[in-house]
Amino acid sequence: MNAITMVGRIGAAMALVAAIPAYAEPVAGLASPGNVVAVSVDVDGDGRVLYEVKRNGKPIITPSRLGFLFTDARKIERGLKFVSQSARDEDGNWTQPWGEWQSIRNHFRELRVRFQESSGLMRQMDVVFRLYDDGVGFRYEFPDQPNLKQANIADELTEFAFAQDGTAWWKPAFLWNREEYLYNKTPLSAVGTADTPVTIKLADGTHVALHEAALVDYSGMAVSRGEGTTLRATLTPGAGKPKVTKTGAWFTPWRTLIIADNAAGLYMSHLMLNLNEPNKLGDMSWFKPGKFAGVWWNMIKGNWSWARGPKHGATNENVKKYIDFAAASGIHDVLVEGWNVGWDGDWFGNGNDMDFAQPTADFDANMLAAYGKKKGVRLIGHHETGGAASHYEDQFDKAFKFAADHGEMVVKTGYVTDAAQIERVDADGTKLREWHEGQWMSNHFIRVALAAAKYHVAFDSHEPIKGTGLHRTYPNWVAREGSRGMEYNAWSAKNPPDHEANLIFTRMLEGPMDFTPGVLSLTGSDDSPILSTIAKQLALYVVLYSPVVMAADTPENYAKYPAAFQFIKDVPTDWVDTRMLNGEVGDYATIVRRPRGSDDWFLGAVGDEDARKLDVKLDFLDPGKTYTAQIYRDGDDATYATDKRHSIVIETRKVKQGDTLTLALAPGGGQAIRFVAKGKGQ
Ligand code: NOJ
Ligand code: CA
Repeated sequence: MNAITMVGRIGAAMALVAAIPAYAEPVAGLASPGNVVAVSVDVDGDGRVLYEVKRNGKPIITPSRLGFLFTDARKIERGLKFVSQSARDEDGNWTQPWGEWQSIRNHFRELRVRFQESSGLMRQMDVVFRLYDDGVGFRYEFPDQPNLKQANIADELTEFAFAQDGTAWWKPAFLWNREEYLYNKTPLSAVGTADTPVTIKLADGTHVALHEAALVDYSGMAVSRGEGTTLRATLTPGAGKPKVTKTGAWFTPWRTLIIADNAAGLYMSHLMLNLNEPNKLGDMSWFKPGKFAGVWWNMIKGNWSWARGPKHGATNENVKKYIDFAAASGIHDVLVEGWNVGWDGDWFGNGNDMDFAQPTADFDANMLAAYGKKKGVRLIGHHETGGAASHYEDQFDKAFKFAADHGEMVVKTGYVTDAAQIERVDADGTKLREWHEGQWMSNHFIRVALAAAKYHVAFDSHEPIKGTGLHRTYPNWVAREGSRGMEYNAWSAKNPPDHEANLIFTRMLEGPMDFTPGVLSLTGSDDSPILSTIAKQLALYVVLYSPVVMAADTPENYAKYPAAFQFIKDVPTDWVDTRMLNGEVGDYATIVRRPRGSDDWFLGAVGDEDARKLDVKLDFLDPGKTYTAQIYRDGDDATYATDKRHSIVIETRKVKQGDTLTLALAPGGGQAIRFVAKGKGQ
C-alpha cells in the first residue's frame, strides 16, 4: 500500500498514477486546481526517485530523475525510500506595486514528498511540487540533519525528459559573453548546453518554457542535453570546487515548467512571480515607473567617452542639455554614464578604480541635481563595477547615500567582464573569481537590493544574473539587461529582425528588461543601418516590458522625428492589465496593455524579417466607448533592408469594441497604437 490515500484531494492524480506502466507502484501524485497539470512521483527498483508531468492526461515530462552529486560525500540518488507525502491548497490575490498586471491570482496545489536513504547515511530529502493550471514548479528541501550538516554540491541530477521532440529556442550557456548571445532555433533533440529559459514547441504544438524561480543563495541552472529529448540540470560553477555550498536546512530554487497551448499562453503565465516570496521591502510608493533619457547612445556609438578627456560625455553642458530635453518631453529621469572617477584606465573587467561618490571635475553633481529638480527631472547615476563586485560592496553605503542625496530614484549597475571573471575579495583578502550566475553573485544581487532599498533607491542591473521573479520580493530591482539589447545595434554585429520576437517568448519570461528602445534615427556607429523600421522602434515600448524604459536616441535625433516621437512621449510604463493577442516564438507578437490610472489602451506588434498581416479583434476595449486609435504603422514601402526603414504612416481612426484591425507589418517592422478613450456614448 502506498501512502497516496493519506492525501485528501488526490482523485485526479490517482487516475494519472494508474496510467504509468513502466514503474512499480507510484508513491505520490497530485493535480493542479483545474485538474490540468498533474505530477506523479515514483521510486524505481534501485531506489531512484522519478517524477512525471502530464497535461490534460498527456505526458509532457516522462519519468525523470532527481538527486544530487556532492564533492565530498556519496551522492543522493539511489537507495531512497518513500517516507510520507502531504498536500495543501492555496488561492489568493496579491497586488504588484508596479508591473504588467496590477492584481495577480496565486492558485496552486502543493505536494510535498519525503524520501530517505534506506541504509548508510540515511539522509532525508523532500521534493515539493506546486501545481498550477499553467505549469509546475518544484524544489528540493533538506531538513537540518547530522549526515548533511554541510552540503557541498558538485551538481544537481535533476532531469527533464520531454515526452516528445519539438523545436527549441535557446542561448548557449557558460560562454565568455554571458547572456548576450542570439537565440538558436533547433530541434529539442539538438539543444547543446543552454541558459534558461529554454522555450520549446513540442511536436503536438504544446508550448513549454523551462526555467527557474527564486534563485537565491544558489547557483543558476543551465541545462545540457542528455539522450534524445532529455535535458539535465547543470549548475553554474562557483569559485571553489563545489558549485553550491549549503549548511543546516536548505532548499533549491524552483525548477519551473510553464505549459500552454500556444506561445501567448507562456507569456500570460504568472507562475514565475507566484513562486517568489512576497515583497520584503514594504512601502514602495517612493518608486515611480517612467521613462528616461540619457547621456549614453553617443557613448555606445563611440562619439563620446566614459573616460575624461576631449570626448567626455558626462559634462555639465551635455547633461544640462539632456535635462532640458527630458523636461520638454515629459520624461522624468536622465541617465548619466561616465560621471564618476574610475573610467580613465583599463576599466573593462577591472572596476577597482571606480568611486561612486566622486564625480569628475566637469560633472557638478550638486548643480545638476538642483538644475534637474527645478525642471522635474532626476538623474540616474551609473555604477559600472567592471566586475569588481566586492569593491562595489565596500562602497555600497556611500554610493547609495550619494545617489539619494542627489535625488536619484534609480541607479543603473553594470558588471562588464567576461564570464567567470567577477572579482570577489573575502574578508581575509583572498581573491576569488566568480561567475555572474553563481551562488555568490546570487547573494551579491540581494545585498545590492537591500543596500539600495535603505536609501529608497531602485536599480537596473546590466550584465546581471538571470531574472527569476525576484522583483516580487525585492521590488526595487526594477530592471535588468541579461540579453542582447539595443547596444548591439550601435556595433557591427547587429540584432537581426527576429531578435525581439525571440526575446518576448524567452528572456521576457524572466521579467523586465532594460532593452533601451526608441532609436528612431535607425543608425548605429558610422551611420550603420539598424535592421528595424521606425514603427517597430515604437512598438518595442509596448512589447518589451520594463517599469523604467529608455528613450535611447539623442535629443538631436528625436528633433528630426517629432511625429513619431509623440508616441514615446505618450506611452506609459506601468500597467493594470496586459494581454497577448497573437504570437509565434521568433516570428511575431501583438501585446495590448491598459495603463494604471487611465482608460486608454496601448498596442504593440512586432514581426521578423517577413512582411505579415495580423487581424486583431478589439475585444479588450470597454463596451459602449468610442476610442480614437492613434496609429503608427509601417509605410507601404517600409522595410528594414533598405533606406525605406524610416517610412511610417501616422493616422487616426475611430474604433470601438468588436472592431477588427488589420496590422500590416513590413519586413523587420512593427506597429504601435494608442487607443484614447472618449468616454461612454461619445
Ligand atoms: C554595457 C551596458 O550594457 C551598457 O549599457 C553600458 O553603457 C556599458 N556596459 C558601459 O558600462
Ligand atoms: Ca551589456
